[in-house]
Amino acid sequence: MQKMLIEGGHKLNGNVRISGAKNSAVALLPAAILADSEVVLEGLPIISDVGILADLLEEIGGTVTWDGDRTVHIHPERMISMPLPNGKVKKLRASYYFMGAMLGKFKQSVIGLPGGCHLGPRPIDQHIKGFEALGAEVTNEQGAIYLRAKELVGARIYLDVVSVGATINIMLAAVKAKGTTIIENAAKEPEIIDVATLLTNMGAKIKGVGTDIIRIEGVSTLNGCRHTIIPDRIEAGTYAIAAAGAGREVIIDNVIPQHLESLLAKLREMDVTVEQSDEQLYIAPKKILKSVDIKTLVYPGFPTDLQQPFTSLLTQATGTAVVTDTIYSARTKHIDELRRMNAMIKTEGGSAIVTGPVQLEAARVKASDLRAGAALVIAGLMAKGVTEVTGLDHIDRGYEHMTDKLLKLGANVWREDLTSEEKTQLHNT
Ligand code: EPU
Repeated sequence: MQKMLIEGGHKLNGNVRISGAKNSAVALLPAAILADSEVVLEGLPIISDVGILADLLEEIGGTVTWDGDRTVHIHPERMISMPLPNGKVKKLRASYYFMGAMLGKFKQSVIGLPGGCHLGPRPIDQHIKGFEALGAEVTNEQGAIYLRAKELVGARIYLDVVSVGATINIMLAAVKAKGTTIIENAAKEPEIIDVATLLTNMGAKIKGVGTDIIRIEGVSTLNGCRHTIIPDRIEAGTYAIAAAGAGREVIIDNVIPQHLESLLAKLREMDVTVEQSDEQLYIAPKKILKSVDIKTLVYPGFPTDLQQPFTSLLTQATGTAVVTDTIYSARTKHIDELRRMNAMIKTEGGSAIVTGPVQLEAARVKASDLRAGAALVIAGLMAKGVTEVTGLDHIDRGYEHMTDKLLKLGANVWREDLTSEEKTQLHNT
């Protein structure tokens, strides 16, 4: 177990390269189950979630070989509908994509209820509604979801809540179903388009991705293919926020700026200079940042995954900002930690009210989830003194080599092993 130490006050300057999208990767890997021959995924991020999903593909009989760190060759030919009620499947939320993929391929699956970040209730009722509409019988037996279908038949499915996970999971289950499936009120995130691109390359017939109505004509077989993942818009957004709060001139490489329009608009409102080209962003803050309110919404609205990092930035802005997360109202665990660093944040009626600018002070803080971790690292870059962040397992789930990338940008950041006393303290909190 380690902690990250960040000596604040060193301005970020230079280039950072963005990795493949975590939230695509975690769906693309299970999607490979649906193919009958080799699937090659290129540009995967080096994060622990990817490693766990690759292990799960092997647990069900697949052969997974790495060609370097980022390209994986998956042979699904020998996969079986092996039950995965416990173990690694519980470590991450995205293991729920094994439900849709295994149901689509084998007409049955048993998957333990997924883990992931604790952001308040994270139901999967819309996934289940979709599977049932396609003809599956779904039961919850001792914390594992059992899915069984004689056959899967296309259906019209209206999502009561716009959900990334449910949209992808229903696509996975429907691509080999008989007839036509229509997903109404579908989510439109770029990661969904990426998964649909992989499935289409495998031979699936999918129309309308990126709109709120997706139409799938079932096919009987899917072939292997080669696919390159999209860049991680949330990682890019995190570095853009860090640059706005603690940077001089930062260039972010390997990014699709259109995927970040809502964030870039907010940064411009704050008076940050933002320039964009095809695959690059240039971020340069002015001396004084203006406060702005944010409200998270489904894509293309402001992403919930950037709400916590953005809250750290707002502590440096002049005025009062209201932060409202309409997707995960309980995604607030970073707030107490930021307060320990001298941030002025009140919570009122489900929103956080951030007053700034304040000089953040270094403290010992704990990342309770992935994006809270990013928020605390950004706060550390802006703080006076050396901030210690624990809970790095969360950060490592979703950010590739964050310490190295920040070092390259000129930050003074390093990792140290926890002492046994610190381990005990952490365990007790
Ligand atoms: N919801 C339901 N029922 C469902 C599914 C979702 O009520 O069956 C609700 C959720 O509780 C939430 C909203 O609908 O309030 C949206 O949830 P969604 O299903 O879109 O989230 P998800 O698929 O579980 C993905 C990302 C999250 C990201 C959200 C929102 C993955 C593996 N996770 O989660 O990413 O916050 O979409 O964009 O793709 C992260 O990367 O840090 C992260 C948590």
